[in-house]
Amino acid sequence: MDMKRILFVCLGNICRSPSGEAVFNHIIKRENNSSDFFVDSAGTSAYHVGETADSRMIKHGARRGYQFNSRSRAFIRDDFNNFDYIIAMDSSNYKDILRLAPEENYKENVFMMTYFSNRYKGMDVPDPYYGGPDGFEEVLDILEESCLGLFNYLKDEL
Ligand code: 4NP
Repeated sequence: MDMKRILFVCLGNICRSPSGEAVFNHIIKRENNSSDFFVDSAGTSAYHVGETADSRMIKHGARRGYQFNSRSRAFIRDDFNNFDYIIAMDSSNYKDILRLAPEENYKENVFMMTYFSNRYKGMDVPDPYYGGPDGFEEVLDILEESCLGLFNYLKDEL
């Protein structure tokens, strides 16, 4: 079975999508499925290219056992060819991603993060950047449930 390639995408690639990557990596490691996946993240903007994740995000994530090792990069059109599942954190990211789709059928590979959640289905993962500590905790709560849902959705195909 081929490796499944998953890309998490937000605006800056320093808060939500690196967290999606960290939470998903944590799950597949725990389930002994790390070798079945290639996981990455990107931002629809280039504001923070080259930077590590936001220190507030790292702090909140570390308390729950998550490790952040990515550097910010911009989402590019070629990502449609390089990934099987492109996961948008909010509806604005979703629209920005679709706008870059090389052809109509590539859009089928783009999903909202909360599509895979029962509790948060249909919601955005709210941008925590300009808010307080609660925002970072909320991001992690939503991502934990959604990434587990994503893993369960994909593991049937492994
Ligand atoms: P992210 O958060 O999209 O979750 O990485 C943001 C980071 C930076 C900015 C906005 C959102 N910014 O405007 O610089």
